[in-house]
Amino acid sequence: MALICFKIILMVTFWSATAEIRASTKDDGEEILQRVRRQVDDRCQLADIIFVLDSSGSIGQGNYELMLNFTKSIVSEFIIGPNNVQIGVNYYGNQARLAFQLNTYDNEQDVLEAIEEIPWLDQNTNTSGGIRLMHRDMFVPESGARENAPWIGIVITDGESTFDKDLTIPEADVARSKGITLFAIGIGGATSQDELIGIASKPSDQFVFNAQSFEALSAIKQGVVTSACGVAAECKASGDLVIILDSSGSVGPLNFDNMKQFVLTMIREATIDEGGTRIGLMVYSSNARVMWHLNTHSTRADMEAALMTEELRYENIPDGGSDDFSKTIEEGRLTRLSGVKIFVIAVTNWVNEVEIKEIASDPDTQNTFFVTDFEQLSSIYQPLKRAVCDGMVSSQWSFMGSYLYIYYK
Ligand SMILES: *[C@@H]1O[C@H](CO)[C@@H](O)[C@H](O)[C@H]1NC(C)=O
Ligand SMILES: *[C@@H]1O[C@H](CO)[C@@H](O)[C@H](O)[C@H]1NC(C)=O
Repeated sequence: MALICFKIILMVTFWSATAEIRASTKDDGEEILQRVRRQVDDRCQLADIIFVLDSSGSIGQGNYELMLNFTKSIVSEFIIGPNNVQIGVNYYGNQARLAFQLNTYDNEQDVLEAIEEIPWLDQNTNTSGGIRLMHRDMFVPESGARENAPWIGIVITDGESTFDKDLTIPEADVARSKGITLFAIGIGGATSQDELIGIASKPSDQFVFNAQSFEALSAIKQGVVTSACGVAAECKASGDLVIILDSSGSVGPLNFDNMKQFVLTMIREATIDEGGTRIGLMVYSSNARVMWHLNTHSTRADMEAALMTEELRYENIPDGGSDDFSKTIEEGRLTRLSGVKIFVIAVTNWVNEVEIKEIASDPDTQNTFFVTDFEQLSSIYQPLKRAVCDGMVSSQWSFMGSYLYIYYK
């Protein structure tokens, strides 16, 4: 494999949300002004946001209402709808309960009314239950979670967990590993800072918020919204991506088509037109072949057409044999030294994690993705996207480009 055989490095924009201007109907002046303001701030156009609300006894009825009002005020900062921001809510006492899913309501008014109806349970603080319900039953396609939208969870609590306390942070770890960005909002003096930090995404100063009291919640609203918009915008970061597809003997034409579908999703999600993302494509078996360079296609339509052409079909070239792997590792290492980030998707039942992790950039846990068959590729799309976006936002990779290496054994 010739991973380092070409060096074309350009700046790009990655996976940005497509701005969609919604037609306004009969709104009053204030409402229209607000809409215009939100649309100008196009960073908040697309996101799936789930609130995980504390409904424990310590809060009290009045403060509970303040918390619901705070939740409503955040919702009002976004354009709500199936093509914009979707909202889901659950609340937890002894157990977690669903209020509504991301796809239950398609407009702001219905969401606001539904939040008002959420009852105060006046029970224990089972925070892990709320977090689990969120990532297991709510951030899933059946509940309306969209693969192309940033996933944001906002956990609000007035105190440390009292039920299943040991599970709170591990459950948040699982949620984050699924590509969910987690905010932790603590209210009052009874919260545990360690727990909030353990729940939230990093850096903590961006994702952990403390309000002295329920009355003080309004003071942190803007911070939460700004941070959430930042998450929604992350994918507008600059970077280059070269996708490398395995076309060796064991893949077969059907699996090769599944890989192409996966690449198609990525192309459709990326902003390619107007000098946006550049994506290069290579195919390898015993040798590597450049299908197109980073600067070959400048529009999404061209790139989609190139992907679907007869040119790019599975070629049954015999497998290279195992000594290719040590070469691959060596080349991966050299490529990393030259400043390129490498993500590896391994489609395999035969797991030699050592080799795969050797190829990928560190930290391995963030840059390697394992699935057992090609049909599962879509399940890793969200965490992959997050990893690629994060890498491009936070580091020098944006200047150097990235490789996504799809590998089968
Ligand atoms: C919550 O908002 C509603 C409607 O804006 C308001 O009537 C109510 O007083 C607020 N609740 C509290 C506790 O401030
Ligand atoms: C906490 O909530 C979860 C989800 O509702 C539930 O499965 C679990 O049993 C609860 N924990 C306790 C101690 O009741």
